[in-house]
Amino acid sequence: MLANLAADQHRVGQLLLSHFSGMPLTDPRLHQAMQYSLLLGGKRLRPFLVYSVGRMLGATPADLDGPAMAIECLHTYSLIHDDLPAMDDDDLRRGQPTCHKAFDEATAILAGDALQTLAFELLTQHPYQAVSVERQLQLVRELARQSGYLGMCGGQAIDLAHTNKTMTLTALEQMHQLKTGALICCAVQLGWLCSPDQNPQHLQALLQYARAIGLAFQVQDDILDIEGDTATLGKPQGSDLEANKVTYPALLGLTAAKQKAADLVAEAHQALHSLPYDTTELAELASYVIARKF
Ligand code: IPE
Ligand code: IPE
Ligand code: MG
Ligand code: MG
Ligand code: MG
Repeated sequence: MLANLAADQHRVGQLLLSHFSGMPLTDPRLHQAMQYSLLLGGKRLRPFLVYSVGRMLGATPADLDGPAMAIECLHTYSLIHDDLPAMDDDDLRRGQPTCHKAFDEATAILAGDALQTLAFELLTQHPYQAVSVERQLQLVRELARQSGYLGMCGGQAIDLAHTNKTMTLTALEQMHQLKTGALICCAVQLGWLCSPDQNPQHLQALLQYARAIGLAFQVQDDILDIEGDTATLGKPQGSDLEANKVTYPALLGLTAAKQKAADLVAEAHQALHSLPYDTTELAELASYVIARKF
């Protein structure tokens, strides 16, 4: 299953490492903090989605490297800030002390900021071979939109506003779609934009798939906060409970949350049926999203 996952993880990791090795040093501590959070672990799920969707649709493989690196930088920035004392106040991430613990809060804030802008630098400086300039602009717009106030940041704000409170299931779903689903949808859309496929119906089917796995991914993340163990997760088990976060299991119970995750994966599989491509890898990825233990 997911035969290409390890190779894609390795590919994006090596590309990011080589970018960091060649980067001029301004402040060594900032450089170290960025590299520490970005390169020490992580499943690289969003880059894998870029590669997987792009491959399926016939994109030029090298064209996918820019968006794959960019979305991992953006995601890592979101994790560094998510862990800060002002947000989830967590001490462990990707099996290591969180950025603000290994360095300090100010450095962690700056490392997040700098990884966010690095994402756009990598996305725009990439030497695309078969992606039109118009589509390159769309890559930038999508990453900006899905990570900003209409996407990840918006979701994080809703999350913080409801800590120690409750919310309706509809509101919880919207929060999860924004804080986690938006970047997953973005990864799929970046893969599509790099490909020769121009069919809006294909994009719609892919986005329906992405919305379903994006939500399932966060439902599983909520479940793992209860059922996982810290060593396997690489982040503190029980963090949501301790912070009194609104989660799927908190609102529905564990059994219903698991059922919801399974229903979403079935929905993702269904969305792939209309596509005239070999969707095996994307279907496997949907199943992996809820089978994963970290
Ligand atoms: C964690 O994302 C944050 C959520 C959106 C739930 P991942 O589970 O993809 O974290 P890494 O990249 O593997 O560390
Ligand atoms: C975070 O959700 C989503 C982000 C945008 C980073 P969580 O707060 O549940 O992520 P973890 O559990 O700390 O990885
Ligand atoms: Mg959080
Ligand atoms: Mg968190
Ligand atoms: Mg979580």
